[in-house]
Amino acid sequence: MRNLLDPTDLTVDEIDQIMDLSLDIIANRQKYNEVCKGKKLATLFYEPSTRTRLSFTAAMMELGGNVIGFSDANSSSASKGETVADTVRVLSCFADIIAMRHPKEGAPMIATQYATVPVINAGDGGHSHPTQTLTDLLTIKREKGHFDNLTVGFCGDLKFGRTVHSLIKALKRYTNVNFVLISPEELKLPDYIKNDLCEENIEYTETHSLENAMPKLDVLYMTRVQKERFDSEEEYNRLKNSFILNTDKLKSAKSDMIILHPLPRVNEITYEVDNDPRACYFEQVENGKFVRMALIYKLLQWKSENRKTPVQKTIIEGPPCKYSRCISSQEPVKHLYQLSENGIYRCIYCEGPLEK
Ligand code: NCD
Repeated sequence: MRNLLDPTDLTVDEIDQIMDLSLDIIANRQKYNEVCKGKKLATLFYEPSTRTRLSFTAAMMELGGNVIGFSDANSSSASKGETVADTVRVLSCFADIIAMRHPKEGAPMIATQYATVPVINAGDGGHSHPTQTLTDLLTIKREKGHFDNLTVGFCGDLKFGRTVHSLIKALKRYTNVNFVLISPEELKLPDYIKNDLCEENIEYTETHSLENAMPKLDVLYMTRVQKERFDSEEEYNRLKNSFILNTDKLKSAKSDMIILHPLPRVNEITYEVDNDPRACYFEQVENGKFVRMALIYKLLQWKSENRKTPVQKTIIEGPPCKYSRCISSQEPVKHLYQLSENGIYRCIYCEGPLEK
């Protein structure tokens, strides 16, 4: 059975299939009205969401299916102390597919070990957000026509921004993609992602200046400083306005650059930028619904075909993961580590390195 925990769970060819299916759904809406009739999607959201949960809901409804679930951990048995493992075992009895968002890294991975239906990661802590990545890719595809030969700037909170982590992992598989990482020193991209870029000889530069980076960018991906992941409110307040995109700063940008943002925006893009033809973040939201329709349809199809995960990774058992952001210590699971490209074993739940 196939799940989606990380964008690289899909091959490049499968991503192409999902893009093509999304475009066909956009062009022929009626054709897909009933393809999920009688199927149920469970949305298990332990963390706040507007776009992601409601776009999953709208997507399933437009495919003719139904949706059950919760939008707040306090209204679920998690508030009584139930594990993710038990909750998904229960939900597997009611639903055909699960979309889960959780504040702890690796929670949807735990879900795959206990669910008997496909699981989609709808955001796990500061780790990954693969369906936002599919949304971003569809927007890039529709606006630029291709993924190769692009210079992509990521600006803001690159440390905790899970949408950034997932989009970099997806885009690095294409040819001649350059990354410009624009962040304050304290919010730089995590080392484990940079190490992979180095290992694979993928070009990236780090800078504190949006102004200097602007002229070379084909895509500018703005992000919110992730308040909820900070230990100190003072630190958040110091960093929250590090970058604010306004019409003045856009003067030096290419005329065909596109501006993306996963939303919600706080104040990192001024409202006047919304009128610039390069601003694509509301189109991005709509693309999110179409791409989730394509994903749900494909995963249910692959489930009925019993399609297997393409890449089998080397996995070993080890000591408990040391990272507090990781879910593994609070669930009934084995502590597993997988061998990464650069020879380091990393926790399969949060990707933290194995420390003995
Ligand atoms: C993002 C998320 O939840 O990571 N939002 C979304 O899903 N569109 C980005 C964010 O919250 O800043």
